[in-house]
Amino acid sequence: MRIDGAAYRTIWPEGDGVVAIIDQTRLPHDFAVVRLTGLEEAAHAIRAMLVRGAPLIGAAAAYGVALALRADASDRGLERACATLLATRPTAVNLRWALERMRGLLAPLPEAQRVGAAEAEAAAIADEDVEINRAIGLHGAALIRAAAARKAPGGPVNVLTHCNAGWLATVDWGTALAPVYAAFEQGIPLHVWVDETRPRNQGASLTAWELKHHGVPHTVIADNVGGHLMQHGKVDLCIVGTDRTTATGDVCNKIGTYLKALAAHDNGVPFYVGLPSPTIDWTIADGVREIPIEERDGREVSELTGRTADGRIETVRVTPDGSPVANYGFDVTPARLVTGLITERGVCPASREGLLGLFPERG
Ligand code: MRU
Repeated sequence: MRIDGAAYRTIWPEGDGVVAIIDQTRLPHDFAVVRLTGLEEAAHAIRAMLVRGAPLIGAAAAYGVALALRADASDRGLERACATLLATRPTAVNLRWALERMRGLLAPLPEAQRVGAAEAEAAAIADEDVEINRAIGLHGAALIRAAAARKAPGGPVNVLTHCNAGWLATVDWGTALAPVYAAFEQGIPLHVWVDETRPRNQGASLTAWELKHHGVPHTVIADNVGGHLMQHGKVDLCIVGTDRTTATGDVCNKIGTYLKALAAHDNGVPFYVGLPSPTIDWTIADGVREIPIEERDGREVSELTGRTADGRIETVRVTPDGSPVANYGFDVTPARLVTGLITERGVCPASREGLLGLFPERG
């Protein structure tokens, strides 16, 4: 994507054991590039959410392995790198997927070949992510085009999205937002309702920032507004991302997604999920019971951070001193509430049969 005329991915190697990322904790106020040079820095970047979003977490972990092997390419070094990175965040399955792919390739190689092979494989994972998301964009844009055809001529298609599943959550393009960008490029009139997505405000801070830079019409709304908009015919379709989708089509995504899916179901609004295949967990069938849900620091709920009128970044508390808080990061939307999964191979029903129709090699 382009920021002020320059093309960016969210992660890129700079050579000599340096991997650059965009520090997402500083957006939308500052655009800052951070350089990672070792395992601990890579693990910190994922854990502290300098990089975030399931596909980008996977790519960052792959580059983290490559950085780690520069310091220690032994079997022990490889295992330590994979274990350290795997422990950073529990929910997005792309992390495990990328580490298993790296370990599977690297473990049989002699130590002397591991660094080069790891760097090449991390780059391949990043490039594949871009192509997967580009394809999701084209398949999803067809859905937006169909929605436009059902509307009065000239009226924009109103898409509601939750959290940030745009290019910042991936290496480029995004998952849920890839169809939005593709439709926008195709000249389809559209407008995006952006859920603010408390507690970390990925919608208000990141999705709005992306869409603004791309020139896509959008409006930020408080998290609880979506149901009201749907009751009044102001949402044509919802498209969200996912951090892990089961083999049966249950969709785990940022906390609050489930409530939007319920409201969409009640109002007959199509509810789609941008799903790259590395986000499918083929090993599980029951998302509610089997997907580990990340619980994060309660201060993300009890505090708010933003920029003051005179340009300072400030954090303020919004709860009474001593009130307990709970901070669940994700929830699971059962497959029955999902209209379709937009994958790189096409759109399918949210079911085992639907997924196997597109990915028969997993049967
Ligand atoms: O906690 P985060 O910011 O890493 O959460 C990930 C997300 O941005 C969303 O859940 C997203 O919709 C799925 S990742 C494309």
